[in-house]
Amino acid sequence: MSRFNAAITGIAAYVPEATLTNADLEKMVDTNDEWITSRTGIKKRHILKEKGKATSDMAAEAVKELLRKTNTHADEVELVICATVTPDMSFPDTANTISYKVGMKNAYGFDLSAACSGFLFALTTGAKFIESGTHKKVIVIGADMMSSIVDYTDRTTCVIFGDAAGAVLLEPDTDGHGVIDSVLKADGVGGKYLNRKGGGSKNPISQYVIDNKMQYLYQDGRPVFKAAVNGMTTAVKEVMDRNDLSPEDINWVVPHQANMRIINAVADFMDFPRERVMKNIEKYGNTTAATLPLCLRDYEDQLKKGDNLILTAFGGGFTWGATLLKWGY
Ligand code: UT7
Repeated sequence: MSRFNAAITGIAAYVPEATLTNADLEKMVDTNDEWITSRTGIKKRHILKEKGKATSDMAAEAVKELLRKTNTHADEVELVICATVTPDMSFPDTANTISYKVGMKNAYGFDLSAACSGFLFALTTGAKFIESGTHKKVIVIGADMMSSIVDYTDRTTCVIFGDAAGAVLLEPDTDGHGVIDSVLKADGVGGKYLNRKGGGSKNPISQYVIDNKMQYLYQDGRPVFKAAVNGMTTAVKEVMDRNDLSPEDINWVVPHQANMRIINAVADFMDFPRERVMKNIEKYGNTTAATLPLCLRDYEDQLKKGDNLILTAFGGGFTWGATLLKWGY
């Protein structure tokens, strides 16, 4: 057992000002508010519209707010991990760009790519640096500018995604608060259902890629839906079983916000009362790696020191998992 847990000691998030409502989408593609609301639970999304702005700009705003809230000086931060599938560029990494924009001169960092499970994977990774005793202040970010890879003529995907960034500060805790346990999984069999084929080394940007819209995100929703419910439920069950916990022991479930029907199905399968399941998909849509920190930020006032939280996510890869966390403040 490690002497330290990695506790979340602060949380902040940033959403761009501009919104894209269901009514706006009705003018862009063959869809309607009734379909979007009943099938996904989404009413609006926030979109980063300012020219030249990118994922790192949203994340830098979230991190500045995090440093302010936690009274942390930028020079104290040692490591920054940014979970994203929409990096500013393929390199340099977005974490490094964020550190530069915020002025965190003593921090090294790296990006982590696990799609909608990115924040969960990054949180567990960041926690290991604290638990080892080598790091005292680690920032974990989930940030995605999904509007940069969404095809706004494809009604099956453009109604779902939005832009946002969230960030947490991890610090050592010796009283049992923080990340307790994680179940993280991946299965490449899901790669064909949810991906972005263009722009990487397999299909570098070319006229062919553009003509075939391979620069955009692709999703075959139905198989992803089924796998998401199954993956999240199984991971939550596994982490609860091995920590000897029943639903009454859990104060909050924090699920990835991909679809209200998925969120409710996971809650019902696990016998969690729906009022103890965090939800904000209605306001932001699916912001990929940002959904979990954005949820924690929105519910921060309702959290109490010592609360047991289960975070769970599912995304492209497939990747999925669940993390048990004892809230630290
Ligand atoms: O975050 C990463 C992981 N991602 C997920 O977890 C997403 C999982 N999948 C989903 O959330 C759902 O599958 C979607 C929201 C993407 C789609 O909902 P669905 O209930 O699975 O719809 P569907 O794909 O089965 O389509 C049903 C019908 C189709 O028409 P037909 O073939 O029945 O005539 C679609 O063409 O709905 C049609 N449709 C739409 N109609 C109006 C698809 N998109 C739209 C739309 N507006 N935006």
